[in-house]
Amino acid sequence: MSLIRITNLGKTYRKRKVEIPALKEASFVVQSGSFVSITGKSGSGKSTLLNLIGGLDTPTSGSILFDGKALHRFSKSEMANHRRFSVGMIFQSFNLIQSRTALENVELALTFGGVPRRKRKEKAESLLENVGLKDRMTHLPDELSGGEAQRVAVARAMANNPKVLLADEPTGNLDSETSSEIISLLQDLNHNHGITIIMVTHDVETAGRVSDMVLKLKDGMIVEQTEKKH
Ligand SMILES: Nc1ncnc2c1ncn2[C@@H]1O[C@H](COP(=O)(O)OP(=O)(O)OP(=O)(O)O)[C@@H](O)[C@H]1O
Ligand SMILES: [Mg+2]
Repeated sequence: MSLIRITNLGKTYRKRKVEIPALKEASFVVQSGSFVSITGKSGSGKSTLLNLIGGLDTPTSGSILFDGKALHRFSKSEMANHRRFSVGMIFQSFNLIQSRTALENVELALTFGGVPRRKRKEKAESLLENVGLKDRMTHLPDELSGGEAQRVAVARAMANNPKVLLADEPTGNLDSETSSEIISLLQDLNHNHGITIIMVTHDVETAGRVSDMVLKLKDGMIVEQTEKKH
């Protein structure tokens, strides 16, 4: 079953009258429950594409059907709901709030999701336990290793039961061993919790190994689409 249907999607940034076509005529379908990777050189449009799916930005042309709904026509408040409930995002630099503990970072996402106060702590604890961080809940982000910080970010992204996890170079700041642990965590969420994953990565070998579909971008265009047969 298709979860995301992208057709002729384009994004042109305009800076001081200069037009930068960051994404051109992208078309593809993401099946529900699949693991998709997006590869390509720096500047090829990977983050642009991910941000459009995540509702962090709006396209200049084309369409995104997300779970049958026209994301490209969403109002501001529909977009806010999309970001809050339909997708979870993780980034290379973790983007945790530095002044808050691991537990509080996850609790905050639950607050935004409207989870009542008395249920938040327990839910946040169980989310952190699921990513193997039971013993690090009271640590501040700078008291965590990179791999642990990314696990907190994953727990936070999962807080409001999203359909899709969008990961922009989630292992970009990690050594190879820690990277494989994070990839395994994403695979576990994909296989055992049925969450759809779209991951941007420079690691072509890992992308090929873990993904059902790999998209390669070049100068804003999808130049290769490789699908694994099941
Ligand atoms: N907000 C913006 N305003 C203007 N141009 C932008 C903006 N964001 C990205 N771009 C441009 O769009 C193009 C694609 O950028 P994007 O961030 O999607 O690349 P990327 O593939 O994610 O690269 P990297 O691997 O370095 O993260 C680049 O040429 C970039 O300079
Ligand atoms: Mg990028």
